Amino acid sequence: MDARSSRYHDVYARWQRDPEGFWTEAAAELDWFEKPKAAFDPKAGIYGRWFPGGVCNTCFNAVDRHVAAGRGEQAAIVYDSPLAGVKQTISYHRLMTETQVLASVLRDLGVGKGDRVILYMPMVPEAVVAMLACARIGAIHSVVFGGFAARELATRIDDAKPTLILSASCGIEPGRVVAYKPLLDEAIALSAHKPGACLILQRPQAEAAMVAGRDHDWATMRDHALVHARWVYDCVPVAATDPLYILYTSGTTGRPKGVLRDNGGHMVALKWSMKYLYGIEPGEVWWTASDIGWVVGHSYIVYAPLIHGCTSVLYEGKPVGTPDAGAFWRVIAEHGAVAMFTAPTAFRAIKKEDPQGKLLKQHDLSKFRTLFLAGERADPPTLAWAEQTLKVPVIDHWWQTETGWCIAGNPVGLGKLPVKHGSSAVAMPGYDVRVVDEACKDVPASAMGSIVVKLPLPPACLPTLWQADARFEESYLAEFPGYYKTADAGFKDDDGYIFVMGRTDDIINVAGHRLSTGGMEEVLAAHQDVAECAVLGIKDELKGEVPCGFLVLKSGVNRPPTEIEKECVALVREKIGPVAAFKLAITVGRLPKTRSGKILRGTIKKIADGESWTMPATIEDPKALDEIGAALKDKGLGG
Ligand code: COA
Ligand code: AMP
Repeated sequence: MDARSSRYHDVYARWQRDPEGFWTEAAAELDWFEKPKAAFDPKAGIYGRWFPGGVCNTCFNAVDRHVAAGRGEQAAIVYDSPLAGVKQTISYHRLMTETQVLASVLRDLGVGKGDRVILYMPMVPEAVVAMLACARIGAIHSVVFGGFAARELATRIDDAKPTLILSASCGIEPGRVVAYKPLLDEAIALSAHKPGACLILQRPQAEAAMVAGRDHDWATMRDHALVHARWVYDCVPVAATDPLYILYTSGTTGRPKGVLRDNGGHMVALKWSMKYLYGIEPGEVWWTASDIGWVVGHSYIVYAPLIHGCTSVLYEGKPVGTPDAGAFWRVIAEHGAVAMFTAPTAFRAIKKEDPQGKLLKQHDLSKFRTLFLAGERADPPTLAWAEQTLKVPVIDHWWQTETGWCIAGNPVGLGKLPVKHGSSAVAMPGYDVRVVDEACKDVPASAMGSIVVKLPLPPACLPTLWQADARFEESYLAEFPGYYKTADAGFKDDDGYIFVMGRTDDIINVAGHRLSTGGMEEVLAAHQDVAECAVLGIKDELKGEVPCGFLVLKSGVNRPPTEIEKECVALVREKIGPVAAFKLAITVGRLPKTRSGKILRGTIKKIADGESWTMPATIEDPKALDEIGAALKDKGLGG
């Protein structure tokens, strides 16, 4: 299909002409207890609020209404766990019963509308039920990814101040069982806020010790509620603008940002995206291979496919090693997925193990139509390999935790536009995307600049940060007045295709996971022997980027540097978690700086990535860069 036969340009123009009408029409696809008075109220909130006056419930739209409409027997969730050796299909009817029962348990444990509930859980159906049960009673969930350590969880507990924490005895990673409960206990010991109760799912792979008076057994409470409970039959009406969840994401410091998501706008944008961006019909099988701890998991494992009446595959496994690089093809074929969504890193992993795509031949992928990639830049060679191997369109699209859905993509549902490798294609309706210079002036086509979005942001995007309006304004709105700063840099070509090339801040993207180098520096700086440090992301064939820490030791320290480097690696794993993938610490005599004391991160990165670089005119001592090059060479890095 060429650009002219896609409906995209007409639809985007329609939104530009009449955003109110466009979103009012999209909102009509949902069930409302009370219809919104308008699509948008520019006077409310910080930059306006979506669907003022609307009263709704996200769980109702994701579950109950499908049962009422006759989808009760259709699979809502297909749980496929090669790690646990379990497969399970959960119908919409069963999902409704389970959310009713768990909602009742949450109520019994003191959770009410507006209360926060933290989930620290592996990829099990109970986690999805828990998110929906919170939504059902108007409680605000906050899911913390299982690869984060106790200290990170504690920070989130102190910020969200949950009434209840839901967790499990363990997660399962290839070759090891990760005991979550000791991490939870440690996090609660570290946090100033203490939750009233914890509900713990005992998995057969590990038995968690319970704290009397605080911890409750998930299965016992569920079974009791199933028989005796005052089930929460009705979904609690909430305002469209009420929060559905808080999802913490990396900022430039160690203190994560609590991205807030509302109920109404979120549902409207996600529902629209399933049909028009992803080209999916209700009843079809959709698979997002991510984790519920990330925004991609929130939006496209849980909420969007369920709101759209699809079957969503919940996969507890990896692209390789569970058991091999054919795992993705097996899941697509076995469950009849018509599309999947994952991060490019997963395809790099598969390509590395099975470059000829031989394992694909064992599976019938005849129903499979489209592969969607996001979470990090899709490198053209991986994208081309996926296209040649799968022989279906491979669609890169760009978004952020903050937006909750795609900013720029190729809307397959409106008629696919030509694919340009390296570009995540065009702005979705709702987003007026500009590329600007430091003075906030549009740069010419194909020139690099900061990518910003003209306010207001569309539905589903964060209205603010959890109890941190000033931080929201300062982080996102202050630098380019009237615009949202994405903190991504890139360019737009003559056809309006957007090329996202990298972050403008200290955030790095490791295997599609967003991490703060500032947070890692805070941990390293706390090591007794470290005087100064810098962490930056360096190129990695599999994970895209990996963090690399440069350490300057305090004078007088005479222990072997390798010993200290090992301790630093262990410290980041202990304090931030294995997800940081921090495995490279390099001791150097000093850090290269400008005369005004700024660390020359960009130049160090170029040296580490083996790219050409020029000596910065402002450097304090040019020899410092040679020293960095030599230290990297000692570790076999730097090209
Ligand atoms: N609980 C506990 N530990 C976890 C975890 C979890 N939920 N998830 C990951 N970890 C651990 C891993 O076991 C690994 O530990 P290790 O250092 O002992 O090996 C570490 O955190 C780093 O994880 P990761 O960066 O994911 O590396 P990996 O080698 O385990 O897997 C990929 C690499 C590419 C296979 C994997 O990252 C992947 O499948 N990514 C694509 C999908 C995705 O998750 N995208 C994210 C957003 S769309
Ligand atoms: P997260 O909030 O974890 O989703 O990470 C968002 C960041 O990941 C963005 O700001 C980008 O830097 C990067 N990112 C996500 N998707 C893409 C993409 N398709 N192309 C380039 N970068 C991307």
